[in-house]
Amino acid sequence: MNFEDEVKRRRTFAIVSHPDAGKTTLTEKLLLFGGAIHVAGAVKSNKIKKTATSDFMEIERQRGISVSTSVMEFEYKGYKINILDTPGHQDFAEDTYRTLTAVDSVIIVIDHAKGVEAQTRKLMEVCRMRKTPVIIFINKLDRPGNDPFDLLDEIEKELQIKVRPLSWPISQGPSFKGVYNLFEQKLFLFSDENKQTVANDVIEISDVYSSELDQYITPFTKKFYEEIELVKEVYPEFDRSTYLSGEVAPVFFGSALNNFGVKELLDCFVQIAPHPGATITDSRTVSPFEQKFSGFVFKIFANMDPNHRNRIAFLKICSGQFERNVPYYHVRLKKKLRFSSPNAFLADKKSIVEKAYPGDIIGLPDSGNFKLGDTLTEGEVMNFKGIPNFAPELFRYIENADPLKYKQLAKGIEQLTDEGVAQLFTQKSNGRKIIGTVGALQFDVIEHRLEHEYGAKCRWEPINLHKACWIESSNKTQLDDFRIRKYNSLALDKHGREVFLAESPYSLQMAIEKFTDIKFHFTSEF
Ligand code: G4P
Repeated sequence: MNFEDEVKRRRTFAIVSHPDAGKTTLTEKLLLFGGAIHVAGAVKSNKIKKTATSDFMEIERQRGISVSTSVMEFEYKGYKINILDTPGHQDFAEDTYRTLTAVDSVIIVIDHAKGVEAQTRKLMEVCRMRKTPVIIFINKLDRPGNDPFDLLDEIEKELQIKVRPLSWPISQGPSFKGVYNLFEQKLFLFSDENKQTVANDVIEISDVYSSELDQYITPFTKKFYEEIELVKEVYPEFDRSTYLSGEVAPVFFGSALNNFGVKELLDCFVQIAPHPGATITDSRTVSPFEQKFSGFVFKIFANMDPNHRNRIAFLKICSGQFERNVPYYHVRLKKKLRFSSPNAFLADKKSIVEKAYPGDIIGLPDSGNFKLGDTLTEGEVMNFKGIPNFAPELFRYIENADPLKYKQLAKGIEQLTDEGVAQLFTQKSNGRKIIGTVGALQFDVIEHRLEHEYGAKCRWEPINLHKACWIESSNKTQLDDFRIRKYNSLALDKHGREVFLAESPYSLQMAIEKFTDIKFHFTSEF
């Protein structure tokens, strides 16, 4: 197969949801279809149960599972599928946002009884920001839930995206009959037997109005006709270009647990979802079809073995062909590196990869060369953009609790923040170090890992802050004035950029209103 076809057959995406909507179950069923696993239950949930916020075993368990399921790749009908896993727990949301920078499309799972939930909203915001194409899978139709039209209205309103159903449920809950696939015009009958296999009862009916249909879906035939008429009236014809531009989300209905509606989702997905697209760098836009290799690191995972402090850097290939043992240029370090054992990921096991193409994710064993966002090329100097830090919302001073371990602590903080576990700010006025996170659990993770991986002890002290945001201005006079007045609220991030630490929503608002020439950014990339 030529290089161009290799690129075109790749589908790199993430499945995201509010916890419990069915992301893990759907992922597992997709892997079953792809033959990547053979029995259900092989993919373990990476959820941290709600009660266990300070249970370190849980945290370690989550990290262990996350490493092995970070990327799941398989072949399906000639397509190469790469599913990127995202952490289930909302305290690790920043990790999820970063993973979304490495995908070409997203499937959002929504529980049809619960509708749009908080985490779904936030995830969709990130997709919208990046114009990522989104498909919605409405799950748990075997249970009673909302009326499909109401639910679609809610999704359009809450997620601010237009929808276009490509399948339609016939009843729901105990009387759930199945779904009619509007994309392929086939009826799929629901049975809750054989739910752990990939067998499906498919009845092909090309004429929706044939009497045959009635015998399968009675007594819901009339209602079904009314509903699909309404679908035609309310929603415009499906147009792939509006999906690819992120304006319209195709919607499928099903039940992941019962393996129902999943195959249609996958079959349609491989046809309509985008192949890897162009990526933006600080100097130019890179096409995946360029012959020269380039890629960026979007995730770093520290090994769980405390005796070997090696890590895995996850690299998304953006252009050209990656080959094992070929030296590539590390733009930030300005030096060539060679990788003798890059990993590919096949559900639960790793293997050495010889070659990889745009869209693929490879794991590079690393002893400290990589930071989030690092770029590898064949020599060109450029940096991929779009891996921002998000303004943290929880803050604590970090202090050394063991005077003999000062160096270890500094190193640990440096490396953990390189990995993106949290963000580090140094207060300008007094040099004190502040750790900022998106979720409270990250403080526990840091403390635990500092002790177990670096032999350092830290102590937390409270600080009353609302938000940290990056500032910039071309009005030097105003910026200097701001610096003088807000001296005690200024800090530097890890890269030396200036950050305003707002104590309250009010003080942030006042600053924004008063210093009109200063831009306050809520992500680090602007
Ligand atoms: P998540 O990754 O989005 O957090 O959700 P996950 O797949 O773990 O699913 C959450 C719960 O919902 C699980 O039950 C799962 O079995 C159930 N579920 C998923 N899809 C369906 C469906 O189509 N119908 C029904 N009725 N349930 C579904 P649990 O009891 O929390 O976990 P488990 O002990 O069964 O694993």
